[in-house]
Amino acid sequence: MSTAENASLTHRDIIARTAAHVRSVLSGDGTGHDWHHVERVRRVALRLAAAEGADPFVVELAALLHDVADWKFHGGDDTAGPRAARTWLASLAVDETTVEHVASIVAGLSFKGAGVATEMPTVEGRVVQDADRLDALGAIGVARTFAYGGHRGQPLYDPDIARTPHADFAAYKKPGGTSLNHFYEKLLLLKNRMQTETGRRWAEARHAYIEQFIARFLSEWNGDDGPVKV
Ligand code: ADP
Ligand code: NI
Repeated sequence: MSTAENASLTHRDIIARTAAHVRSVLSGDGTGHDWHHVERVRRVALRLAAAEGADPFVVELAALLHDVADWKFHGGDDTAGPRAARTWLASLAVDETTVEHVASIVAGLSFKGAGVATEMPTVEGRVVQDADRLDALGAIGVARTFAYGGHRGQPLYDPDIARTPHADFAAYKKPGGTSLNHFYEKLLLLKNRMQTETGRRWAEARHAYIEQFIARFLSEWNGDDGPVKV
């Protein structure tokens, strides 16, 4: 269909086509950026949108498109994501204001290191960012961290590799860490960076779960968890 023919698409059509597009782009990804991640973010984002009074159309589009061209897989180019979102939505003749809003959410979304501020100027952006961050916490967050760490070929843990609170985006992108360190470098920081009240409350249990996971991981690492005290 041409852009002109797409001018009559309803919101429902636009969402359905965008979902099908993203699904085909992301299918088969083994890095934690799979379609199912996007679906979880979409679901949580819509729940947050309802609680926070955000526009569900913008939220759903941004949630669907937020990982289509992640900088980590485009040679560090962090403009690829918003560009891909803009091109796709323009092809569906989505109005300019919505296109720009969604593209700016995709651009501002990702975590870029402990020292880098990533505040979102609109409630729609805050909702999508919180939903994406919630998917990095809890049991799913643990699973994704080790899946991604395996993809990078990094160790589960290495007591000789120090944790680094990354001061800037360039430092955050560098390889050489461990998956367990990623909890300290990113995941444990997320709870205090949630942008909405509902997201903050939601993050608490998921945060507590990863704290327990780390404590248990380290006690098992040291063989301190068994019944035999010597
Ligand atoms: P998001 O989808 O929230 O933008 P990222 O793209 O930053 O998440 O990362 C995808 C998943 O991989 C997340 O669960 C994240 O915590 C994890 N991850 C990112 N960088 C690392 C790393 N260096 N080591 C282990 N896991 C990582
Ligand atoms: Ni994501």
